[in-house]
Amino acid sequence: MTEQKATNVHWHEGKVDRDARYEVLGQKGGTLWFTGLSGSGKSTVAVALELALLRRGKIAYRLDGDNVRLGINKNLGFSAEDRKENIRRIGEVSKLFADAGVIVLSSFISPYREDRDMVRALHDADNLPFLEIYVDCPLAEAERRDPKGLYKKARAGEIKNFTGIDDPYEAPLKPDLHLHSEKMSVQDEVELILEDLQKRGLLGKN
Ligand code: ADX
Repeated sequence: MTEQKATNVHWHEGKVDRDARYEVLGQKGGTLWFTGLSGSGKSTVAVALELALLRRGKIAYRLDGDNVRLGINKNLGFSAEDRKENIRRIGEVSKLFADAGVIVLSSFISPYREDRDMVRALHDADNLPFLEIYVDCPLAEAERRDPKGLYKKARAGEIKNFTGIDDPYEAPLKPDLHLHSEKMSVQDEVELILEDLQKRGLLGKN
């Protein structure tokens, strides 16, 4: 747990609560946390899902490893400590967006179970839905795809601490959803997630 550094700070309540926001929006907020190897298809399914949700009149927003590391987390690298801080910050940001009423699609390798569990605990403590979605893909297949050419560089020793090569990935033990990206189409993955969201009541009436 990151320690509270500032003293004499208190949560300031407003006059609009979460339910009032959700009613205006016609949906409930929550976080869908996509975890898996680089190249496993996390961002691909998140992009397709964002569009499918928009077409149903639902607001989603993507937070993505590469994008976030160009902005709010530009001061973080890939040591275990930096990955932890990366996930902690995004966990907090996801929670705020979910509280606002947005369906958050967070795609991060997030290789450590402890860090993902910490984000779940953050959401649980605030009564916000959190779904861990494991985008499962054998390393050999992710390496074959190598969309950014990074596995090749990692094998050549040009990138150190690359997840799956010389850095660990701890697969979820009990994910809320388990996608096998080398066997399923993106559309099937999207359908599966939408069904789950519907069942959990996140999509409101329509
Ligand atoms: S995480 O481990 O902290 O969750 P995150 O999802 O934000 O990682 O960023 C992963 C992306 O950064 C990869 O998809 C890849 O494009 C890039 N990257 C650069 N160096 C590394 C590395 N050493 N290990 C993993 N990904 C890396």
